[in-house]
Amino acid sequence: MNRISNEKAVSFSGKKVKLAGWVSSIRSHGKIVFLDIRDETGIIQAVVNPEKLKMISDIKNETVVEVVGEIKKRPEKMVNPEIKTGSVEIGVSKLKILSDTETIPFELDETQKKINEEVRMKYRYIDLRRERMQRNLRKRHESTQFLRNFLSENGFIGIETPILTKSTPEGARDFLVPSRKIPGSFYALPQSPQQYKQLLMVGGFEKYFQFARCFRDEDVRADRQAEFTQLDIEMSFVDRDDVLKLVEEMYIELVENVFPNKSIKEKPFPKISYDEAISRWNSDRPDLRKDKDNPDELAFAFIVDFPMFEKFDGGFRAEHHPFTKPKATPKEIRKNPEKIKSFQYDLVLNGAEIGGGSIRAHKPDMLKAIFEVLGHKEEEIENKFGHLLEAFNYGVPPHGGMAFGFDRLLMVLLEEESIRDVIAFPKTGDGRGLMMNTPSADISPDQLKELSIKIDHESEN
Ligand code: AMO
Repeated sequence: MNRISNEKAVSFSGKKVKLAGWVSSIRSHGKIVFLDIRDETGIIQAVVNPEKLKMISDIKNETVVEVVGEIKKRPEKMVNPEIKTGSVEIGVSKLKILSDTETIPFELDETQKKINEEVRMKYRYIDLRRERMQRNLRKRHESTQFLRNFLSENGFIGIETPILTKSTPEGARDFLVPSRKIPGSFYALPQSPQQYKQLLMVGGFEKYFQFARCFRDEDVRADRQAEFTQLDIEMSFVDRDDVLKLVEEMYIELVENVFPNKSIKEKPFPKISYDEAISRWNSDRPDLRKDKDNPDELAFAFIVDFPMFEKFDGGFRAEHHPFTKPKATPKEIRKNPEKIKSFQYDLVLNGAEIGGGSIRAHKPDMLKAIFEVLGHKEEEIENKFGHLLEAFNYGVPPHGGMAFGFDRLLMVLLEEESIRDVIAFPKTGDGRGLMMNTPSADISPDQLKELSIKIDHESEN
């Protein structure tokens, strides 16, 4: 007999079936024992005669069992409307323990008091069994599927870009990976696929997307991880409003299809200039909800016309990144950097910055002026961006794009307070993976030697 899922059992009334799952509760009434058996589709009640099935005494919460028995309709007053299989139960004739369990370190019941987060992270595989985590990761999957299809239907091509790469100018610290074959040299993990996606435009792919893993060695916060996922897009032959129109349509459809209980406050999404946002809300990511206690309201807005540069360390740095197209000529940029606005735009949702992007500067004279204002030396420009500047000499389409913090977006849509609750295996505040014990100092002297690396134990403390 093939095992069926708990959810399907309802349509097998009067028939004999095989079910399997985790025991999520045991209630003994002397002559009969009720087990709640949980699989990924939900819970079903199993009725066991302890006289006939003596191994029932070995069962604890979270033991993995297989049961064979008849699906029976429950009497009217025993129906449980709270669960999908609440109208039936299984009368168990055979019971098999597929795997034993130790007493689990915390209860899975959502109504229990808040579970210590370190414990949840250490035993993440148990934490993932909780209804909320199951819901979050399933919604994440549905969202990914939806967005992939949406973009694909709109002519976008999914392309993967390297993880072992070179520094990109997103402004955080890089994670470095030592090269064994070229001693003393390092790859950087990408802070974003920014340069690659622009090179794909030069390569003749006019619409690109990727669910891209990004790595930024910065302090972790409630809405930030060192390793996170972006939905990254780039388009050729577009202006700002082409990009924003596509993005708006994509999120409206995502909400309608995957989060239908939510309502969008304003359509089309308002476009607010950076200056206006700062003067009215003193923030470039204002929360525009009417009622901030209403979690079903979604207030999207585009913030546009950011300044191109911001003052930094006696000089300037790019507000977004140096490939952003300024709303000025190279001459004006050199003359009055602090006054220049750009084609940068952000997408905000209920007060969170969930995306950012720009139309790119693709002409060499413009890029040269930008790098001058940023105070980059010739050699540094060549070293960091030479490949991109060279590529732009061989026929580059005007282009622009955007990247969305996918975890952060889900955090808002799923009403979670921490980005960690929408990621299967997140890191703690100080960047540790408590389950696998990462990062690890357990590297052999041979491995280090191969990589030509010596640890300076003095500077460790
Ligand atoms: P930016 O650096 O603005 O732009 O990043 C885009 C979006 O990614 C999310 N994000 C993060 N989410 C979680 N943890 C983090 N540490 C983190 N850092 C950023 C934010 C942010 O809006 N290459 C450009 C995009 C472009 O120009 O096309 C980029 O990466 O939601």
